Amino acid sequence: MSQQLNITETLSKEEKYKSLLPQIESLVEGENDLIANISNIIAALKYSLDGFFWAGVYFRKGDELVLGPFQGPVACTRIIIPNGVCGKAVQSKSAIIVDDVNKFPGHIACSTDSKSEIAIPVFNGKEVTAVLDVDSDVFANFNDTDKHYLEKVCELISELMIKT
Ligand code: SME
Repeated sequence: MSQQLNITETLSKEEKYKSLLPQIESLVEGENDLIANISNIIAALKYSLDGFFWAGVYFRKGDELVLGPFQGPVACTRIIIPNGVCGKAVQSKSAIIVDDVNKFPGHIACSTDSKSEIAIPVFNGKEVTAVLDVDSDVFANFNDTDKHYLEKVCELISELMIKT
């Protein structure tokens, strides 16, 4: 397993994701502890992409989302589905991109520094089992490139959750 990431600062967002994904795969290779693997995935995202102020996973437990591994300031521990951006991602079974969190009805503000957000569901078949959530301290930090590649990260998280 590789323990060091190599992401060139000057790459475009898409190039960074393309460079990061195989490194994330290699990071979790040969380790079967779910929390250890997700913790490293989250740290890899937070410290490789620009404007990632908070990144973490919420696990679905019945009607709630419960905080899992994350990087960033302390966050709300439980979110009742379908509250907040994360709860809406579960309800709609699709990624939600919010350019300005102040304009999203029901947004749950864990930090006043958060300006934009993306929440992506993790699936097991058709069931949502977790949410990958990223906040930025910059408005409109997330676009379809983030959605595309973070959905791939969610597929990896799903595989890890299923096999653990
Ligand atoms: N803003 C999220 C809550 C989680 S924190 O951002 C870490 C939401 O509205 O669901």
